[in-house]
Amino acid sequence: MLTKEAVLKALSTVLDPDLRVDLVTLKMIEDLEVDGDTASFSIVLTTPACPLRGQIEKDARRAVQTLAGAKEVRINTISRVQSPKSVDIDTNHFNHVIAVGSGKGGVGKSTVAVALATRLAAQGAKVGLLDADIYGPNIPRMLGIDRLPEGDGPKIRTAEVMGMKVVSIGFLVQDGQPLIWRGPMLHTAIKQFLTDFDWGDLDYFVVDLPPGTGDVQLSLAQSLPISGAVVVTTPQQVSVDDAYRAISMFDKLEVPVLGIVENMAYLEMPDGSHLHVFGEAGGEHLANRAGVPFLGRIPLDPAVAQGGDIGSPATSLNVSSATSEAYDALTCTIAAEMSKTAFKQ
Ligand SMILES: Nc1ncnc2c1ncn2[C@@H]1O[C@H](COP(=O)(O)OP(=O)(O)OP(=O)(O)O)[C@@H](O)[C@H]1O
Ligand SMILES: [Mg+2]
Repeated sequence: MLTKEAVLKALSTVLDPDLRVDLVTLKMIEDLEVDGDTASFSIVLTTPACPLRGQIEKDARRAVQTLAGAKEVRINTISRVQSPKSVDIDTNHFNHVIAVGSGKGGVGKSTVAVALATRLAAQGAKVGLLDADIYGPNIPRMLGIDRLPEGDGPKIRTAEVMGMKVVSIGFLVQDGQPLIWRGPMLHTAIKQFLTDFDWGDLDYFVVDLPPGTGDVQLSLAQSLPISGAVVVTTPQQVSVDDAYRAISMFDKLEVPVLGIVENMAYLEMPDGSHLHVFGEAGGEHLANRAGVPFLGRIPLDPAVAQGGDIGSPATSLNVSSATSEAYDALTCTIAAEMSKTAFKQ
């Protein structure tokens, strides 16, 4: 006869492919019921952002179906993003906070932050994107928005673009004017970004940082617990050296570095070969040297640059399938790294 115990035992042989831990230990099985020869349960994934969900469901079904007395297996797969560092600030709830940084300017932080945020949102996650680049807030242009919506609630309404909530420090300044806040004033501003806007309940809060190792990074790390930092570099040595400094800064701030993204890694030629415009594998070598994960490489793609300029981010653009796949894989890897942090404690 089929029992709950037997089903749980079978499910404890099924591993989450990212975390390499079984579904029962991960507390991913809920609402388990056994009725005669039918077993039903929910699988609670740690992120909606992964194609692996199909695989886990398949493995779970197979494990239970082989049990004596089992005829039907009903599985309801859902996702619930949880972080040990989740924090409530006022009425806002931030689960995973992801800071996207670099040492050098212009390496593609904002592009990566937008691609990551839009993809997480497209897969059903509740996503917020904060452009905290006080020197050159580019997100408004990249997303084709220039102001916040009207509203008279207790909090300031965020912009809503492609299913995510977006706020840019650029909304608060006049076109083209640089911000010259430093120290305490900047710190207050960053705190207000977290309290005064109606972020609501977020699974992922993506923060696009200015380049370098300055006040914004410090203020952000002091204002809320960051699950992890994604460090973007091009393969070029100058960029890699600066990225190494950024990693050291995150270490000092006790922000875990999720890993390195190598942007503008290569140009795909018409014959399919790769031209390494800025050198080869600089990002990967950096990851090895710093002892952090290598998250992936994004090709140099003219459509990405064009999309950033006309306010149409890579997701909605006709970027090459290689670029699109690279962003998808990167998003999945970052989501998996986030989930891992939830089980490292
Ligand atoms: N993979 C890519 N292929 C082609 N162009 C890219 C790619 N990634 C970024 N770009 C372009 O390079 C420029 C710089 O990118 P982006 O603004 O994302 O860099 P950044 O690191 O955020 O810069 P900053 O330090 O000024 O904030 C932009 O014009 C962007 O469209
Ligand atoms: Mg930027």
